[in-house]
Amino acid sequence: MSTERFDKAASEWDTKPRRVQVAEKISAAIGRLPLSQEMDAMEYGCGTGLVGLPLASAVGRLTAIDTSRGMLDVVQEKINDLGLKNVHPLCCDLLAEEYAGKHDLIFCSMTLHHIKDTTGLLRRFTELLNPGGYLALADLVTEDGSFHDPSAEGIRHHGFNPETLKDLLIDLNMGDLTSEIIHTIVKEEQNNREYPVFLLSGRKAG
Ligand SMILES: C[S@@+](CC[C@H](N)C(=O)[O-])C[C@H]1O[C@@H](n2cnc3c(N)ncnc32)[C@H](O)[C@@H]1O
Repeated sequence: MSTERFDKAASEWDTKPRRVQVAEKISAAIGRLPLSQEMDAMEYGCGTGLVGLPLASAVGRLTAIDTSRGMLDVVQEKINDLGLKNVHPLCCDLLAEEYAGKHDLIFCSMTLHHIKDTTGLLRRFTELLNPGGYLALADLVTEDGSFHDPSAEGIRHHGFNPETLKDLLIDLNMGDLTSEIIHTIVKEEQNNREYPVFLLSGRKAG
């Protein structure tokens, strides 16, 4: 069960420098969107908040959603330590539970590959966006399955072709779609194999 895997990993999650570096790159790339204090933002699959918490001061409010309570406990500790008043952790599976929030920005980092029903999740994201709202998705470009350890549970996709995701989003009334490679993860343990990471962003039609 992948939730248990993340619960167990949560307290040690931030001790892996490569993980922290990837999150910093993704956070910086999302930070280049036109964020503002008027924005009500949501991160889906927030993990320990490595991507979302550095962006919290750039938006009015951030709902940090994950299905792992262990991850959310770490987020809450950081919120307490940093004295953040505008970040609200929430345990929720958007494909299985009611959620009524409306957002001006939704972002999702390195989580899409854990979710089988990509189209269903993208549809939920677009339903939860206000008109003109931004969506930002970061994940691995399609890889050969060597990125994760074979024992890792809950891997539903070996990355994505950003152009395929773009086509899905066009069908869901999203526009201004752009994608770029924002970072390349190099795994020494895989003979320095390279795994590019994309950021795909777009806006819901107004
Ligand atoms: C690889 S971590 C990424 C964490 C963070 N976004 C980052 O980039 O550092 C994936 C996260 O997705 C969460 N997750 C997995 N399946 C999920 C689902 N169906 N709904 C919401 N979150 C999920 C996991 O609990 C985990 O925190």
